[in-house]
Amino acid sequence: MSTAIYPGSFDPVTLGHQDIIYRSSKMVDCLIVGVLNNSSKKPLFTVEERMDMLREVTKDLPNVLIESFDGLLVDFAKQRKANIIVRGLRAIADFEYELQIAQTNRSICPEVDTIFLSTSLDYSFLSSSIVKEIACYGGRLDQFVAPYVEKKIQSKWRK
Ligand code: PNS
Repeated sequence: MSTAIYPGSFDPVTLGHQDIIYRSSKMVDCLIVGVLNNSSKKPLFTVEERMDMLREVTKDLPNVLIESFDGLLVDFAKQRKANIIVRGLRAIADFEYELQIAQTNRSICPEVDTIFLSTSLDYSFLSSSIVKEIACYGGRLDQFVAPYVEKKIQSKWRK
C-alpha cells in the first residue's frame, strides 16, 4: 500500500492546498495530511481548528486522513509507514527552500522521498498568509478558501 504525507501549517487551508490534496490523493492509496503543531509559529488557528477545517474540505476524499504531528517530519513519516512526502511548488521562489528541506529530509531518512506538484496557475500566488492579510482588512475570501473556512476566518476576526 502506498502512503504519502502532505505536511504543512494549513493556517488555514486554502484552495491551493485543496488542489494539491485532491491531485495527490489520486496518486496513492492513502494520503495523510500532516498538520504541524508548532507553537513557535504563533498560528491564527489552533491545531484542532486547522484539522477541523481540513476534515471538512476533504470529507469527500475517502483515502485522505487528517493528523497532526510535532518533531521531525521524517519521524512522523516513518511512524505512519509513509515513504513519500508531497509538497506544492507555486513559483521558482519556493524551489530553493523546498529543495533544501527535501534534501535535508532525504539525508536524515533516505527511504522517504519528496515529490513536488506544481500548483495550478489559478492558485500560484496564494498562501495562508495572503488569506489572513485580506481577511484582516475585511476583503472577500471566496476565491481563495472554501465557504466553511471563510466562515471560520470571519468568526476569528470578529473575536
Ligand atoms: O506550510 P509550511 O509552514 O510551509 O510547512 C512547513 C513544514 C511543516 C513542511 C516544515 O516546517 C516541516 O516539515 N516541519 C517539521 C520539522 C522538520 O522536519 N523540518 C525539516 C528538516 S529541517
